Amino acid sequence: MSDRRKIIIDCDPGHDDAVAIMLAARNPKIELLGITTVRGNQTLEKVTKNALNICQYLGIDVPVCQGLGEAIVRKSPPVEERVHGDSGLDGPVFDPLTKQLDPRHAVDFIIETVLNADSPVTLVPTGPLSNIAMAIKKEPRILENIDEIVLMGGAYQHGNVTAAAEFNIYADAEAAHVVFSCGRRVVMMGLDLTRQALCYPEIVERMEKVKTRAGKLFVDLMKFFCMTQKRTFGWEGGPLHDPTTIAYLIDPSCIETKDMYSEIDITGGPSHGRTNCDFFNLMKDKEMNSKVAVKLDVEKFWDIVEDNLRLYDSI
Ligand code: BDR
Ligand code: CA
Repeated sequence: MSDRRKIIIDCDPGHDDAVAIMLAARNPKIELLGITTVRGNQTLEKVTKNALNICQYLGIDVPVCQGLGEAIVRKSPPVEERVHGDSGLDGPVFDPLTKQLDPRHAVDFIIETVLNADSPVTLVPTGPLSNIAMAIKKEPRILENIDEIVLMGGAYQHGNVTAAAEFNIYADAEAAHVVFSCGRRVVMMGLDLTRQALCYPEIVERMEKVKTRAGKLFVDLMKFFCMTQKRTFGWEGGPLHDPTTIAYLIDPSCIETKDMYSEIDITGGPSHGRTNCDFFNLMKDKEMNSKVAVKLDVEKFWDIVEDNLRLYDSI
């Protein structure tokens, strides 16, 4: 039995999802069991192609399984083309795709992999939570072999898609409700944290010195990402949300968390999709079901990114 932490990344790549995959795939503390895809930043077909391209380019030999192309109850919101471009991963140019999609549905892959694992699995969702919620509902026995769910999503302060809600949670709030109330601990990397992980042009210049395939992919991705952050929001650097999940798994000391009770607003009103996090522990009768990230050690975070980009083949 390996002492590396077993994880499944459930994602919608997406520039920041791509970096999360890069950090996880070669890190010696992590065993990446597979990658599952979900509609989010782009359509399901596009994000799945992106996941396959990332794996092929970096030689990441794990199953990639396609999941849900729509939210589980409501109509999905529009894709995030302004930030991630028409392909969902604009910037890098990939060779023709030869890596094959695994034929299993993402939901079945998650169920099968978690049930068969000889030690608990950590789920790492970095997109809407549709696949994870479906897996829990289809086979609740998986909960016994999930140690925690370390996700990017939500905010205890301000949203990024509505005043109240963050994109991943808003995009499938009912699924998020299933996940936050499933009984396993959720570690929530919300916008409060990820807005501290700003990828400025100086960071891109720093990673340009990492002469590996992952370093090159990071730079190609982040040049596009910085450009769209500037064009869309007027910012010099944008939040690199999803890799904070993996940084936490690699070195939890880089992220300070606070235990809280958190629940999702699924009322359909103006705060639909908000993560209501009880920061001051006012609801004493509620069990603290989440560890909510509050503070990032920015220097450590970028060191983790650089160290892990260096683990790939040189160019
Ligand atoms: C989240 O939404 C997506 O645009 C990013 O990939 C990230 O997972 C941030 O709100
Ligand atoms: Ca994402």
